Amino acid sequence: MAKEKSVISESLKSPRGMHDILPSDHEYHTYIKKVIRHRARQAGFRRISTPILEYTDVFKRSLGENSDLFTNQVYSFDDKKGRSLSLKPDGTPGVVRAYIQHNMDERPQPVLLYYFEPHFRYENPQKGRYRQFWQFGFEIIGESDPALDAQCIQIANKINEDLGVNGLYTLQLNTIGTSESREKYSQVLEDYYVGKERSLCENCKKLLEENPLRMLDCNEEDCKILAELAPSMHDYIDKESLEYHEELMEYLDEIGIKYENNQKLVRCLDYYTKTVFEFWDEKDGSSNATGGGGRYDSLINTMGGKSIPAVGYAGGVERIIANMKKEKIVVPSKDELHVFVAQLGREAKRKCLGLIEDMRESGIKSMGALGKGSINIQLELADKFKVPYAVLIGITEVRENTAIIRDMKKGVQETVKMEKVVDRLVDFIGEKNLDKYSPGELLYS
Ligand code: HAM
Repeated sequence: MAKEKSVISESLKSPRGMHDILPSDHEYHTYIKKVIRHRARQAGFRRISTPILEYTDVFKRSLGENSDLFTNQVYSFDDKKGRSLSLKPDGTPGVVRAYIQHNMDERPQPVLLYYFEPHFRYENPQKGRYRQFWQFGFEIIGESDPALDAQCIQIANKINEDLGVNGLYTLQLNTIGTSESREKYSQVLEDYYVGKERSLCENCKKLLEENPLRMLDCNEEDCKILAELAPSMHDYIDKESLEYHEELMEYLDEIGIKYENNQKLVRCLDYYTKTVFEFWDEKDGSSNATGGGGRYDSLINTMGGKSIPAVGYAGGVERIIANMKKEKIVVPSKDELHVFVAQLGREAKRKCLGLIEDMRESGIKSMGALGKGSINIQLELADKFKVPYAVLIGITEVRENTAIIRDMKKGVQETVKMEKVVDRLVDFIGEKNLDKYSPGELLYS
């Protein structure tokens, strides 16, 4: 008989650019999350989660009404009362909104927050660029000092090191000055590009009207040449920002963090002031950055709060996982089962249910098909689940109150009194490999 095949229509698949995180990738997510939590705690950051939806105004204000991200990439819809809501494309605006809404300026400053959340951008999906993607981020709100920018970069760098991918990236660093000096420089750039439109790519032609600064990090060959010859950004940036940048570089040198001072680095978000930085993939440059951040000293004020400075960073989880895989980094798995329980008959099944419960309480990860198949079929299944041990309970074992423990790899087995099964399995598996916890401990693991 021909095997039945599943047929799934396009409209019943996951939306374009949005992916399931299957169990094997979840192991990477869990690992990355643990590394982040560890580094965050060490540095005094507390976790924050903001809603996946915000009123659209939150993003209109923070990202800028005319920015590319706001106009072209935000998923928005009206709720039943006609209020416009949007899926968050970026973690920083929600955190800033929460900081203002919960009067966090009344707490000791700076306030250190971190997050690990899904974000949504209506992008043109391609490798490393999705419509739903996960970001982890750190925000230091309440003070302006190059030493804080250095610490923000230090923690991002440390996480890349912890995850084993640091060697793949270069840290690009720049200062884009205050918004006033940036406006001045934008005008200079606009004047420079006028008359050269024919050599520009379609995207840069558009950017020339909207945001000439972003033309500087275009990857098209002709645009790159023009950007090389463009007036230098630092000739137009205010003195204070340049001094701030010098001090930041001193601190980075002091803590041994290597960077490239890149005057073409502008970042695609409009809320930055002074420091900007990105971790670039050696090959793809900014288009495949695995993380980026910078200082945003005006954003809190723009969103209705006081004049409070801040700096932050966010890393892209999917891109980091892809690079971990490229580096052949295998994360420890806690998901592998220890024991598969096979049984025959109703009486045996009854015994199995209790035994499985006892095993799990002792930290033995166990499952039983508990179906109607023969012991042999169940053993084949145990093989497919790649468990090191199987426990078999048939009619004889029920009668004698015993169970058979089978070492799946060696193919040997022994019969054990029912009340000794758990202890014997613990001997085989080893105390240190058990998955044991009490709910209290779990909170602090
Ligand atoms: P961002 O550069 O827009 O910065 O995003 C940070 C990282 O998220 C990127 O470097 C990239 O790894 C990842 N990412 C962004 N878009 C996508 C996408 N469509 N698909 C896959 N990964 C993506 C921010 O979002 C700022 N809020 C960072 C920040 C925090 N600045 C200050 N504080």
